[in-house]
Amino acid sequence: MSDLKLGDTAPDFTADTSEGTIKFHEFLGDSWGILFSHPADYTPVCTTELGAAANYADEFRKRDVKVLALSVDGVKSHKDWIKDINETQNTTVNFPIIADEDKKVSNLYGMIHPKADSTLTVRSVFVIAPDKSIKMTLTYPASTGRNFDELLRVIDSLQLTAYNKVATPANWKHGDDVVISPSVSNEEADKMFPKGYNTVKPYLRTTAQPELKK
Ligand code: BEZ
Repeated sequence: MSDLKLGDTAPDFTADTSEGTIKFHEFLGDSWGILFSHPADYTPVCTTELGAAANYADEFRKRDVKVLALSVDGVKSHKDWIKDINETQNTTVNFPIIADEDKKVSNLYGMIHPKADSTLTVRSVFVIAPDKSIKMTLTYPASTGRNFDELLRVIDSLQLTAYNKVATPANWKHGDDVVISPSVSNEEADKMFPKGYNTVKPYLRTTAQPELKK
């Protein structure tokens, strides 16, 4: 089983999808990426998740995130299922779904957890930065649909903290105050955050969210 860790390079692959053959790194280009697995086509939770992802297309686009889903069924099944998703979730699926019948990508990314299910994937998520490094992984069981607001929130945090020496506290969302990284001295913080910061404890300094730099 694959043991991908944060900071590892997201493995490249070529795969058939509902939108033709893609080479993963080429597909990502210089954008951020989100790769997420679904146990199987024509399943209820997956239908709602893919509908939710499609309905958030503008949010992903604003953040320059390319979306790529995976399910272990074939291209014809994906294309037929997409019609159902569009109809029932009131959307248009506008991203490719990998047809991973041979489980090549599922195994490469450790998306099959044999003690949960020997053939279907769990609900894995990988967020990948423009340098192709893995920035976030998440694993839910098949029975629990993911929260796409939470995924966008994490992407906001990753994009903010990639370019600023800050971190985001519990339940943070875009626009809330952030915390200053412990590696930043007070002298550096004075220069870095000219609008000031609040020292709650020497190790807990909060400041207004900096502008997103890209
Ligand atoms: C679902 O997507 O609804 C689902 C898939 C596999 C197991 C349980 C639920």
